Amino acid sequence: MASLALNTKIKLPSGYEIPQLGFGVYQTPPKDTETVVNEAFAVGYIHVDSAAAYHNEAACGKAIRKSGLPREQFFFTSKVPPRALGYQAAKDQVEKSLTESGLQYIDLMLIHAPYGGSAGRKGAWKALVEAVEAGKVRSIGVSNYGVQHLDELEKHIAELEAERGGLGKGGVLSVGQWEIHPWCVRSDIAEWCAKRGVAVEAYSPLVRGRRWGEPTLRELAGKYGKSEAQVLVRWSLQKGYIPLPKSVNAERIRDNADVYDFELTLEEVAELESDEYAPVAWDPTTSPLDA
Ligand SMILES: NC(=O)c1ccc[n+]([C@@H]2O[C@H](COP(=O)([O-])OP(=O)(O)OC[C@H]3O[C@@H](n4cnc5c(N)ncnc54)[C@H](OP(=O)(O)O)[C@@H]3O)[C@@H](O)[C@H]2O)c1
Repeated sequence: MASLALNTKIKLPSGYEIPQLGFGVYQTPPKDTETVVNEAFAVGYIHVDSAAAYHNEAACGKAIRKSGLPREQFFFTSKVPPRALGYQAAKDQVEKSLTESGLQYIDLMLIHAPYGGSAGRKGAWKALVEAVEAGKVRSIGVSNYGVQHLDELEKHIAELEAERGGLGKGGVLSVGQWEIHPWCVRSDIAEWCAKRGVAVEAYSPLVRGRRWGEPTLRELAGKYGKSEAQVLVRWSLQKGYIPLPKSVNAERIRDNADVYDFELTLEEVAELESDEYAPVAWDPTTSPLDA
C-alpha cells in the first residue's frame, strides 16, 4: 500500500483531485460552523462535506473565503436535497448553494438521496451535468444510491448522451457517498464503484460513536496506542475510501486527522469487518426505483 498522508489526494473520473480525508458538518449548528471548520483547517483538513439540508453552507464558504488561501487549495461539497428531485429543483439548488457559500464554484455536488422517482433522478442529474459544463460545479456524484439506482443512472447517462449530442454529454459519475464502516461494508456498492473507478466516500465513519468497546476495535486501539476513532478512520483510508468524520470538538477534530503514524495490517483491516448490516443513519439504498 502506498503510504498515506494528510495531503493524500485521489484522482477522480472528472480529472479533478479530491483530498482523501474529509471533514463532515452534518448537525454542526450554523452558528458554530465557521469556528469548527477553521479548527479543521488549522490541523490540515482541506475538504469539507456540507449539504443544503445541513443549513451551514454559508459558514463553510465563509471559512474558505476568509482563510487567505487560494480557493483551489480547498475542496467543498454540497448536495441537492432529497425528496424534491427534478431538473429545475437541482438547477435552482446549484445557484442557491453558490450564493449561500459565496464561492465561485463547488468542487463536488451530489444528489443527496435517490428518493424522487426515475424521472426526478434523471432530471436532477441532467441539471448537474449542465452545471459542470457551465463551470459552476467541478465534479458530480450521488449519495445513498443502491445498486438498482446506480444501474439506472448508467442508463440515464447513455440516454442523455443520445439526447444531448454524444459521448460525455451524459455527464461523468465521479463520486458516491454512503454510510460505510466495519458494521456496514456495502460490498455490492463498493464493487460496483471499483469496477468503474468511481471514488467512494464513507459517511458516519465513526459509526456515530455507537461501537466503542467492540473487542477487535478496542484491541487494535490498544496495540497501536491510538483511539478507537483513529482506528476506524484508518480502516476507511486503507480501504481506499474517503472518510468524512464529523466533530465539533477541537481535540477530536485533531485526533481524527492524526492517523498517519500507524498502519493496520491487511489481516487487521479484514478482521475489523463484521458480517452485520447495521447502518446507524438512514438507509435510502434499499428503496425501490419508484420511491
Ligand atoms: N450523505 C448522507 O446522507 C450523510 C448522512 C450522514 C452523514 N453524512 C456526512 O458524513 C459526516 C460524518 O457522519 P456522522 O456525522 O453521521 O457520523 P460520525 O462522523 O461517524 O460520528 C460523529 C459523532 O461522533 C462523535 N465523535 C467525533 N469524533 C470523535 C472522537 N474522536 N471520539 C469520540 N467521539 C467522536 C461526534 O461528537 P462531537 O461532534 O461532539 O465530537 C459525533 O457525535 C457528516 O457530518 C456528513 O458530512 C452524510
